[in-house]
This record gives sequence, structure tokens and C-alpha cells, in this order.
Amino acid sequence: MSEAVGTTLSKFIADEQKKSPGATGDLSGLLSALITCAKIISREVNKAGLVEILGLTGRRNIQGEAVMKLDTFSNETLIKNLSHTGHLCIMASEENADPILIPGEYPRGKYVLCFDPLDGSSNIDANAPIGTIFSVQRCPEGVDNPVEALLQAGKHQVCAGYFLYGSSTLMVYSTGNGVHMFTLDPSVGEFLLSKANVRIPESGKYYSVNEGNYNYWEPGVQRYVDFLKSPAENRKPYSTRYIGSLVADFHRTLCYGGVFAYPADFKDPAKPTGKLRLLYEASPLAFVCEHAGGSASTGRERILDIQPHELHQRVPLFLGSKREVEWAKKFIAGQM
Ligand code: AHG
Ligand code: MN
Ligand code: MN
Repeated sequence: MSEAVGTTLSKFIADEQKKSPGATGDLSGLLSALITCAKIISREVNKAGLVEILGLTGRRNIQGEAVMKLDTFSNETLIKNLSHTGHLCIMASEENADPILIPGEYPRGKYVLCFDPLDGSSNIDANAPIGTIFSVQRCPEGVDNPVEALLQAGKHQVCAGYFLYGSSTLMVYSTGNGVHMFTLDPSVGEFLLSKANVRIPESGKYYSVNEGNYNYWEPGVQRYVDFLKSPAENRKPYSTRYIGSLVADFHRTLCYGGVFAYPADFKDPAKPTGKLRLLYEASPLAFVCEHAGGSASTGRERILDIQPHELHQRVPLFLGSKREVEWAKKFIAGQM
């Protein structure tokens, strides 16, 4: 595999495929279809403000959140361009209450796809970075009901990644063999390799959390964040960086190290929960983070070990450099 900066993403994927004996080209085909969708979404994001794509649709999604026009556009782009490829047996989207079945007229494939079509919706109208997150699993043998195939622990993912629509459009992904970063060159319309084998620093100097929720956190989480902001022996207090777009907050964490957290909160005291969704957000980014040398935990359990019990399940999330995620677990366990 050539790791030369500037290699096209399609060549990189083809070279990766050659390294897996028995690969049929299905995963490469699926990735290629996903990349086309991301280019279409990226084009629309770049036109925002010029065309009628900003703002609300007036509807609410399954999570009760206001749906933006770009959420719908991205969701429909993915569904429309992936259903017929023959690579998928089923899909699930953050924006759809139910699993998305492959229409009978198209061939069913061997992969399962979960996605957050547009992450960071609250930032759309402010021109701040947003993204698309995806997770690919195999449809297990002998599973007649493909809906069951959606509820697999994240450690079974065969590929996961994200597109970031920021100052440039990036794709970061892993098939379990390193994490690789590509940048869309708009003049040629192709993603070109920016960095192969990305590694997250062992520790960093930023923490990224919505501290407006501080009063709703459990004491261990409060003490953890207090600790990060306090000067300690041999280190300065951590600095805060928080955009409110998970893809962008995670991408910065991947580049610079530190921790991104969305802990459980007790806004509903009867039902403490995190905000982020296991299948569309936590699990794929945990896969990328671990393959870059980092960690991902709920604070009590490894994200990739969680057996999902429902499609839109939410989890607490601590994601980033090993040192900072370890500390979070220790504070929550009362060991620090
Ligand atoms: P989405 O736009 O896909 O609904 O995701 C929003 C998520 C995530 O991007 C971000 O980390 C988090 O919501 C921000 O939540 P707060 O506004 O509560 O900080
Ligand atoms: Mn999201
Ligand atoms: Mn979303």
C-alpha cells in the first residue's frame, strides 16, 4: 500500500482490499457509494446560505429533536444512493424511527449500515463544522431477520468513520487496519490522502464537554472535570474546547489529544442517560478512536463491548486519549 500523501481514496481502498485475502470488493463498493453521498452532502453544505437549504423543516425526529432541512437532505441522499447497491441487507439512521429495509426490487448484500446523516445540526445555521458518521457491520450468518443484525456490539464493526464538513471536507475511517485521513480536493472532486495511520496522542491539554450540564452530573464526573481544570503538579489546567458538533469535537481530540465527554445527566432524575446514540455516534467513533490508540468508555464500560438492546439507545461517552479516559473511569469509580 502506498502511503504517499495525495494518493486518491479510491486507490487507497483498492490497495487495502488487495491485502484482505478473500475480499469480494463489496466493502470497497459500499465505501465508494458512501463517498459519493458525502460529496453530494458537502456540495449542499457549501451552498448553504445561497440556496434554500438552511433552517428547520418544522418536523421533529424520533428523538423529539427539531429536524433541519440539511438533516433531511443528507438522510435522503444516503438512503437513495445506498439502497440499490447490492452491498447492504439493512440500514438504520438516526433520523428514522424504524430500520430501513432494502426494497424488494434490489439485491440484498452482506453488510449492515448505521449512520448519523448530519451530525451537529444545531450548528448548521451558524456555518460551524458538521459531519456524517457511519458504521458498517456484517450481517451475521443464519440471521433471518436483518433487524437483529443491527443490534450488534461495536467490536464487531468491520469499518467505521466520518466525514467532516469544515474548513475543508475530510473523511476519516478505519477498517481495523489503522485510521486514515483524506481531504476532498474540490478542484478534482476526489478525496486525497492527508495522513495514513493517524495516532491520537497519549494525552492532551484540552477537555471538551458541555459544562452547562455540570449541575446534572453525578459527583464523580463533577470531580473529574474540576480536576482537569485545576492546576496540578507538573501540568497546567486543561483548556476547554467545545463546538457542539460531535464529529468536529472528536476530530480535534483525535488530532491534539485530550478528552471529549458527554456524560449521563440527571435532567430527568428517574432516567439518567447520556445524549449520544450508541449505534450512530458513540460506537463508530469509539472504533476509530481505539484503532488510533485511544479509548472510549461510558465511564464504567468499554463502548465497543456494549450489546445494544434498542436502535436509538443513548449512552454516556468519554472518548479520547488513554490517560484522560482512564482518569474519568477512576473518578466515576471513586478511586481518584
Ligand atoms: P445531532 O446533530 O446528530 O442530533 O447530534 C448532536 C449531538 C452531537 O453532535 C453533539 O456532541 C451534541 O449533540 C451536542 O449537544 P449539546 O447541545 O447538548 O451540547
Ligand atoms: Mn449526531
Ligand atoms: Mn444527526
